Amino acid sequence: MRTPFVAGNWKMNKTADAAVAFVREIAAELDAIAGIDVAVCPPFIAIPAVAEAVRGTKIGVGAQNMYHEVSGAYTGEVSPTMLQPYCQYVILGHSERRAYFGETDEGVNKKIVAALAHGLTPIVCVGESLAQNEAGETQSFVSGQVRAAFAGLSNEQAAACVIAYEPIWAIGTGRSATASQAGDIIRTSVRDVLADLFGRETAEAIRIQYGGSVTEDNIAEYMGQADIDGALVGGASLKPTFIKLVRAAAG
Ligand code: 13P
Repeated sequence: MRTPFVAGNWKMNKTADAAVAFVREIAAELDAIAGIDVAVCPPFIAIPAVAEAVRGTKIGVGAQNMYHEVSGAYTGEVSPTMLQPYCQYVILGHSERRAYFGETDEGVNKKIVAALAHGLTPIVCVGESLAQNEAGETQSFVSGQVRAAFAGLSNEQAAACVIAYEPIWAIGTGRSATASQAGDIIRTSVRDVLADLFGRETAEAIRIQYGGSVTEDNIAEYMGQADIDGALVGGASLKPTFIKLVRAAAG
């Protein structure tokens, strides 16, 4: 049985002070929700303070990106060993990173390997554009992203990952994929591909989230899909109503 997992991706929102004030506001209520794993992913600079603020609660902390090297002349980058004292998770290959900062499938693959080597759980993001969706290319594109991200990984490495299927056209648009659309793509283009790569048993153990305009009103529908194990939430994770969303996801 896969434990549901909801993570809030705050993107470039909240100063360190605002981030701490927010987690202090929601921590006790989030902590009281049983049967679900929860994490928040603040901007890098807020991570240590947020990690301190959630200490002793069940709330996990994730980063939104990471470089694959441990140290060196990589101006502006943050390494797995820098994150490791504060974070359990790291979002890798988010479509915004791919679109605005030139991240590639190959780079995402290296980051997954590095994150796992340093005890961080990658939340690996995949998802098609509107043009690809309308051209009927969703299945081939998303399967290709999964194959590229997981290339060369062992079953143990794959089993330690979380995947987020986030159709780009649904991110921040209020135009969410229907639960059955999302469930179908997650089954055919993510879980079945993982089964092909790593065997059915490993594939069934991997948690797969849906992301894209998830709210407290629609989360229950996604959770009703057999292959959807939670959500990666952007806008709706920035407000105190995130508590309601997590409660609804826990059922
Ligand atoms: P929204 O929930 O704001 O659509 O963002 C989704 C997302 O990109 C999470 O990573």
